[in-house]
Amino acid sequence: MINSMAASHAIWPKEDDAIFGLAAKAQEAVKRYGKDKVIDSTLGALMDDNGDLVCFNTVYDELKSMPNANIAAYALVAGQPDFLEAVQEACFREYRPDAYIKVVATPGGTGSVRHAIYNYTNYGDTVLVSDWHWKPYVTISEEYGRKVSHYKLLNDKNQFNLESFKENFETLLEKQKRLVAVINSPAHNPTGYSLSDEEWDQVIDILKENAKNKENRIILFIDVAYIDFAGQGNERRKFFKKFSHLPENILVIIGYSLSKGYTMYGMRQGAAIGISSNKDIAEEFYYSCAHSNRANWSNCNRGAMEVMARITKDPDKFKAYEEEKAIYKTMLQKRAESFVKASEEVGLEILPYRDGFFISIPCSNAKQISDKLMEENLFLIPLKMGLRFAVCAVAEEKCKIAPAMIKKAMDNIE
Ligand SMILES: Cc1ncc(COP(=O)(O)O)c(C=O)c1O
Repeated sequence: MINSMAASHAIWPKEDDAIFGLAAKAQEAVKRYGKDKVIDSTLGALMDDNGDLVCFNTVYDELKSMPNANIAAYALVAGQPDFLEAVQEACFREYRPDAYIKVVATPGGTGSVRHAIYNYTNYGDTVLVSDWHWKPYVTISEEYGRKVSHYKLLNDKNQFNLESFKENFETLLEKQKRLVAVINSPAHNPTGYSLSDEEWDQVIDILKENAKNKENRIILFIDVAYIDFAGQGNERRKFFKKFSHLPENILVIIGYSLSKGYTMYGMRQGAAIGISSNKDIAEEFYYSCAHSNRANWSNCNRGAMEVMARITKDPDKFKAYEEEKAIYKTMLQKRAESFVKASEEVGLEILPYRDGFFISIPCSNAKQISDKLMEENLFLIPLKMGLRFAVCAVAEEKCKIAPAMIKKAMDNIE
């Protein structure tokens, strides 16, 4: 009897997605004990205080007003031209870098991660990712026979660990002469960290220093999946301007997603944005990613692209969308503030939170603590380096009490 048919590169451990597994358990608990008895902080999706998924009316009313054919038709392989324009406006706002910029539609931000890793590294190369990270960077690298090595995200002052980034960056670049380095900011998943503008300057200085060797090919992939929920107004977009007039051997790729900013998680739409001071490099980026689109998923979600383009192009619709989003951004910020404050009060150590959907609690026995908390109907995600609490999914009142529960569970186990 045979027990395997897959080619050797396609055989992976038989594990189901841990996050979705825990989310299902939390939902079972909700059915059994009632919503008010359960804290479900598992999924990275914005929920209202009643535990229901937030779906922006400005997005879904627009979608439902569209002719069926506009939703049903195939899209262009690289994405609809009005969408590709709209992405630049929505992403950069007043901070568009002075550079050649090309955009290609991708299925969610995930598709842009795939394109950056596959199209800008060679087989067997190593991609640089922070130690606290979103796991699919590793899954995607593995899928394509790439390795991952890690820099420390934070130093002992709880700031971006520039030394660790520089050391790992330079070691890999020296060896490979090309490097894709990933920075997930603002609103890093899972810590909620955002690089300050000064920290961005320092990162760019490192890139520029290493770009002096013209043999080097430096690719900075910036994952901004949560940018719409970061900072006040557009302050967290200021750093984009810093990607103006970079040396030609630095390519910046922005991973952009409609999943969070437009509450379109399952509609699978995003974009890869290439920024270069060299027109040919920007065009190469476009054709390289368009080829990858055709080869992997052909084209993307036309309805999602059109909704986003319609909203962005029409000042009234854009204003209404911005107002609706602002309500939820404030809701999220209040929840996070409450969680941070309550953590301080009970002496729970958390990582420095700036923005976004998650807060992390460093610890070495996350699985044990998470299992213990599950008994009390608090569901959160155990990671290698700690616990991830999804403030996006938990009402403010529960964000106030969760830190004490977590602290108690940790104290009882340690
Ligand atoms: C850090 C990070 N990057 C990118 C994404 C992209 O998600 P999607 O492919 O759903 O747009 C996510 C979603 O969870 C994320 O957490």
